[in-house]
Amino acid sequence: MRVKASFLTQTGNSCLSGCVCEEAGCVCEERGRSPRGGGGSAERRGGGTRWGRGGGGNRWCAVGNLARVTEPAPKTEAAPSKAFYLTTPIYYVNDVPHIGHAYTTVAGDVLTRWHRQRGEKVWFLTGTDEHGEKVLRSAEAHGVTPQQWADRLVEEEWRPVWRSLDIANDDFIRTTEERHTVRVQAFLQGLYDAGDIYEGLYEGPYCVNCEEFKLPGELLDGTGDYAGQKVCPIHGRPVEQLSETNYFFRLSKYADTLLAHYKEHPDAVEPESARNEVLQFIRQGLQDLSISRSSFDWGIKVPWDDTQVVYVWFDALLNYATAVGLEAPDAAGNAMFEQTWPADVHLVGKDILRFHAVIWPAMLLAAGIALPRKVFAHGWLLVGGEKMSKTKLTGIAPAQITDHFGSDAFRYYFLRAIQFGQDGSFSWEDMSARYTSELANGFGNLAARVTAMTEKYFDGVLPEPTDVGSAEQAIADTAERIVTAADLAVRALDFSTGLAAIWELVGALNGYLSEQAPWKVAKDIEEPAAKARVATILYTAAEGLRVLAVMLGPFLPRATAHLWTALGAGAHLGPLDAQPLADAGRWGQLPPGARLTKGESLFPRLADPADVVAPA
Ligand code: MSP
Repeated sequence: MRVKASFLTQTGNSCLSGCVCEEAGCVCEERGRSPRGGGGSAERRGGGTRWGRGGGGNRWCAVGNLARVTEPAPKTEAAPSKAFYLTTPIYYVNDVPHIGHAYTTVAGDVLTRWHRQRGEKVWFLTGTDEHGEKVLRSAEAHGVTPQQWADRLVEEEWRPVWRSLDIANDDFIRTTEERHTVRVQAFLQGLYDAGDIYEGLYEGPYCVNCEEFKLPGELLDGTGDYAGQKVCPIHGRPVEQLSETNYFFRLSKYADTLLAHYKEHPDAVEPESARNEVLQFIRQGLQDLSISRSSFDWGIKVPWDDTQVVYVWFDALLNYATAVGLEAPDAAGNAMFEQTWPADVHLVGKDILRFHAVIWPAMLLAAGIALPRKVFAHGWLLVGGEKMSKTKLTGIAPAQITDHFGSDAFRYYFLRAIQFGQDGSFSWEDMSARYTSELANGFGNLAARVTAMTEKYFDGVLPEPTDVGSAEQAIADTAERIVTAADLAVRALDFSTGLAAIWELVGALNGYLSEQAPWKVAKDIEEPAAKARVATILYTAAEGLRVLAVMLGPFLPRATAHLWTALGAGAHLGPLDAQPLADAGRWGQLPPGARLTKGESLFPRLADPADVVAPA
């Protein structure tokens, strides 16, 4: 297993699992041995360091972790900074995307755009999960091979939906790509060689929709068509009884290490409810995990036994690391890994929390790889009180919303209306109401009024503010305050609080315009005092719009791009996405003389709100 010097040091000086270390209870043979000393063999390959088992130096310790093994390799130049690395789940290609999938990906896109706008280096990964029985069965039902099915779904459905929502991912991984499959095999071989994988018999229930081995206690009694059967609590469909000889991963071995890790890093799983669920689950004791299947062959072959394919979750979770260079054969891949790993945020729905906060970190511990900094589990979009899903025929396609409201409104609505981390019911009426009051009347109309009045009274040339008083100061103060408040909230993944903070400025500017009524003052525009007053009001409002454009860029990329053009800001300040977020509240950046144009409406009024009903 390849272990990079620099990312190991990112765990700091504390040993997560108690190996190679001074901590009590460690039975690692490296204990107390100095890094790289004492006969440990480090075989250099492709710029990375591969710790071997032979040659008298077994770096695989009994509790599986390699923290504090080594020091960073001497560097002649300053190391490139680590990227803020965010992932979404990779989505199954058994079916087309619905708004539940889009919810996660949009949240990831907003957060990564936000960090970019802060001037940080960012890496944003999404992709598709293409192996396993569920995808295989879909393909068979459509009379094509699973690879043909996956290719079709990725090209015709998944990639287009992300384009339609302006998702600016840096990479898109497909688990059928060779860059992934060979790295999964190398990883698995490493665990096998280290003794963390063994052969055994799996007997028990399996939910194909979850692609998950279930504990009998988790299952519910079926009703209606499924009366007398045990059903999956998430999908409400009967589980299948499996009895297979498989390979097992020694998951149970890592329970204490995981508990210690989560104790030491209280924010590694959020929100609080998710953390509690994970801790409770681990405290019950972990069972070893079957990580291969032999009854079908749509998967990555187990490298030492080609009668078995790798369990789809074991394969899928590894995408987060293989996509950024884990087990890469070349120096470029290794460098990428060093600059990206560990993930800063794995964004997931709460349905797949345990995979990410129990199985995945245990796999990483077994390989001696630093653990992700945070797994954030958001809630479900509910329809009729239940998790919206294609299986239950409650899935709504994103286009059903974007065709009517536009992609920015989609991005805004879900993050504003639902507290991130909690469940939320989607409603067409609520979406329509928020669109009209917050986007069209609140923000869009503000921009239209300010640009139209600047055209009307100053031929579109932003005037100088020469009559600044307490009302203007209050706006500038609000702008400064909301930048800080929104930044704190969004970085904590509290999108709705962040948007509420930004909307304080929208409200303050609308209130300011109503109170100052520049259209009334302009009746005497020929008088210098009135002209100075109108100029000051319009400057203040336009500068406020500049702040809004920067702050809302990550949420509303299309509308804010139009606004940036309408403010004539680019010619003076450069591109919108190059505006540093931390500086957004500094008042007075839009220079007098900028050319404003009314342009098209940012959020056109809906033609007929009565059209906005759930399609059958
Ligand atoms: N392929 C696995 C993930 C592997 S990640 C290593 C998978 N795929 S999925 O297509 O079923 O997508 C699950 C994810 O889609 C959820 O975790 C969540 O992010 C999103 N959602 C699916 N339905 C959802 C809702 N009804 N509500 C909110 N999010 C939903 O699981």
